[in-house]
This record gives sequence, structure tokens and C-alpha cells, in this order.
Amino acid sequence: MRLLNIESSPRGSKSASIAVTSVFLDAYRQACPGVVIDTLNVWEEKLPDFDQEAIGAKYKGINKEPMDESEAALWDKIQELAARFQQADRIVVGVPMWNFAYPYKLKQLIDLVCQRNMLFTYDGNEYGPLLKTPRAFVVYARGGTYMEDSPTPASLFDHQKYIDFWLKFIGVEEVRTLVVEGTTWGGKEKGEERIALGQKEAIKLAAEF
Ligand SMILES: Cc1cc2nc3c(=O)[nH]c(=O)nc-3n(C[C@H](O)[C@H](O)[C@H](O)COP(=O)(O)O)c2cc1C
Repeated sequence: MRLLNIESSPRGSKSASIAVTSVFLDAYRQACPGVVIDTLNVWEEKLPDFDQEAIGAKYKGINKEPMDESEAALWDKIQELAARFQQADRIVVGVPMWNFAYPYKLKQLIDLVCQRNMLFTYDGNEYGPLLKTPRAFVVYARGGTYMEDSPTPASLFDHQKYIDFWLKFIGVEEVRTLVVEGTTWGGKEKGEERIALGQKEAIKLAAEF
């Protein structure tokens, strides 16, 4: 059993999303002692830019055309990153809210790995998923709060949930989510309370993952 653990906060020990996914993983290790956890921190991974060269390598890769040395190295890195998704039986993602969405480094990872015939298919008419991952668990950490009857209703302000869509798009059958709101804007004490509540809930959810 392999679990891909994607961290997208750069805040290490200060991160709310990592604090919650970490207790989830500890509890999951107890429920499933054989699990191999592959942690991919998008800030530490030295992700290549998805620039003109990478796009060129991608088309050469798809068309099986010869690549120069640096294109080949880029394409290898893309394939190696995609393989970590293909090999995962479970996926866990910690997602900080940044500007009502998610950090650009997480989008960089998505743009690198989300390649036709690696994570999805397209026949000119329809998309098809290529992963056969039964479950993912996503923690959404937010400094503010997003109740519907507040000035920042989730229906207008929550653009983190693209991550749910994307995981289903590539073939994750069931995406379970935990929202941990109010991690910073209500002050340190309230934030710590919210994180502790999130951790309690995460431990419960790990038993059935
Ligand atoms: C660049 C940046 C942008 C942020 N934008 C928002 C935001 O739009 N809404 C919000 O509620 N919190 C926002 N926050 C606060 C974070 O969502 C909050 O600190 C959360 O706990 C981040 O997750 P982490 O602790 O795992 O890093 C932002 C923080 C940063 C650093």
C-alpha cells in the first residue's frame, strides 16, 4: 500500500494544513502498518518551470521525437512526478488557502503531471481518467471563515475546491475533505483551537481511509 502525501504549505512546523495531515498520517499508519508514505512537498521538490522548453519536450514526448539533453531531463522529471501519482493507492493533500484559491506551486505540480496518456486520456471528444485510486483525503486550511451568511460566503469565495475536481478528473474515485477554517484571522488562540479540532476530526477519518 503506497500513499502519496502532497504538502503545499511552505510553512513547515507553523503550517495548519501540515499539522492536520500529519496526525491523519500517524493515525493511518496505525490502522495500516504496512503503508509506504511518499511525501512530496511542492516547495522542496525543485519543480521545473513549465516553460517553452518544457512544453516543447512535452510535444516531442507525445510524438516520440528525439529530444536534446535538457529536454530529456525535463521530460524524465515530469514522468517521474506522474509515476508517483500512478503508484499511489491513496492520496493525501494539504492545501492552504491563498487568495481564495491555493498556492501557485501546487498548480505548477498539477500543470507538470497532468499530461494526456499519463494521468488522463482524451479521444478528441471525451476525457477519461487514468488513475485507479480509490480514495483521497484533502485538508483545506483557511485563515478566514466562509459561512454562507457571512460577508465571505463559500459559494462565492471558495476556489480551493478545484483540487477536488482535479483529483476526480484524473481518476480518484472518492475525495474526502476536511475544512479547517479560521486558522489565523481570529487570533492565535482561536486558530490553535480550530487546528486542534481539525486534528481530532482527521484522526477519526483516518480509521476508515
Ligand atoms: C499568500 C497568502 C495568501 C492568503 N490568502 C488567504 C485568503 O484568501 N483567505 C484566507 O482565508 N486566508 C488566506 N491566507 C491565510 C492562510 O490561508 C492560513 O494561514 C492557512 O492556515 C494557510 O495554511 P498553512 O497554515 O498550512 O500554510 C493567506 C496566507 C498567505 C500566506
